[in-house]
Amino acid sequence: MAILITGGAGFIGSHAAVELLNNGYDIVVIDSLSNSQMESVHRIQELTGKEFPFYEVDLVNKVQADEIFHYHPIEAVMHFAGLKAVGESREIPLKYYNNNITGTLNLCEVMAKHNVKNLVFSSSATVYGNPNSVPVVESFPLTVTNPYGRTKLMIEEILRDLHVSDSSWRIAILRYFNPIGAHESGRIGESPNGIPNNLMPYITQVAIGQREHLQVFGSDYGTHDGTGIRDYIHVVDLVKGHLKALQYLERNEGVEAFNLGTGKGYSVLDLVHNFSEVTSREIPYQVVPRRVGDIGICYANPEKAKNLLGWQAEKGLKEMCQDSWRWQTSNPNGYNIAVKQ
Ligand code: NAD
Ligand code: WQD
Repeated sequence: MAILITGGAGFIGSHAAVELLNNGYDIVVIDSLSNSQMESVHRIQELTGKEFPFYEVDLVNKVQADEIFHYHPIEAVMHFAGLKAVGESREIPLKYYNNNITGTLNLCEVMAKHNVKNLVFSSSATVYGNPNSVPVVESFPLTVTNPYGRTKLMIEEILRDLHVSDSSWRIAILRYFNPIGAHESGRIGESPNGIPNNLMPYITQVAIGQREHLQVFGSDYGTHDGTGIRDYIHVVDLVKGHLKALQYLERNEGVEAFNLGTGKGYSVLDLVHNFSEVTSREIPYQVVPRRVGDIGICYANPEKAKNLLGWQAEKGLKEMCQDSWRWQTSNPNGYNIAVKQ
């Protein structure tokens, strides 16, 4: 029996694949390669010394998704596949709704058809909107401000309805805070297309000289230095949480949501300073107005994951900076051979 990883060529899915293989699981990976490259699949095999089936499959195509379950005995699914760029989701919402919602509906339908009812789903702290207080607890009200976030919230609700209709489903909804870092080998990591939307890949591209300076989006938030605070979590810690969630589903029926964060908040400038200290690189930056839709402060209360999953993040900010930098310096253009613009 194998674990199916959807979106397994992507940033988080590739790290999950390594973690599962290193822990003795068999895996099957599918990915449309719409935001990733085959090279990451080769690197997973290189890192683990293990072969596994990979299929270039788009979940929007239900026939293709169904075939995977015909070919392979699947016991559970880790569902990472989805589009994730907040700004782009505002420009082309229908693409996001179609890809993320239709893809997930198709996946759930073929899972049900093949009697595979264990699912670990990649949700996001974005479902908390602009929280009234921190740290954020799973029971906080859910609200979203952009189509990307809405796909996550809608999928969470779809999964709850699915469980109401058939209580044999076992579903872990994992709400990620801000995943950064990379595998300690420097062989797999985040390979953004074009200009990075997220802070850490932007910083590493400035540090390596691909971009002139960082734009700090706002210094007038109610934080110690005025810049936005987030809960940055090492991607390897994050994927370890997925293994714990899988084991939790073996013991428990139902739908349960878990925050995956460290519980510590750092500002944009905290991250910049830590990165500079660890890498001995100056990060020139300019403060510019707030980015539309951004919130001031968001960090997790990770107690529920600690108590029910037996998981907590172990790696600190320095290790996150070190590993992001190792990935960037050993792969200046990510998985791309051609130089990015
Ligand atoms: P990613 O883009 O690196 O990986 C997602 C993968 O899914 C890509 O390889 C892409 O090609 C694939 N994919 C997209 N649509 C597909 C489809 N219809 N069929 C098959 N494959 C498809 O993103 P990531 O950072 O690894 O994120 C993984 C998941 O975690 C996503 O669902 C994302 O929304 C969620 N998430 C990410 C973050 C983050 O900051 N990275 C935070 C919260 C939640
Ligand atoms: C972090 C902080 C920015 C870039 C987004 C999505 C969220 C989730 C993770 C998927 C903020 C500041 C950033 C830059 C900056 N993804 N910043 N200059 O905004 O917390 O969350 O990614 O689910 O849904 O909204 O992460 O890395 O973009 O920003 O000053 O060039 O860095 O304002 O305070 P965010 P981020």
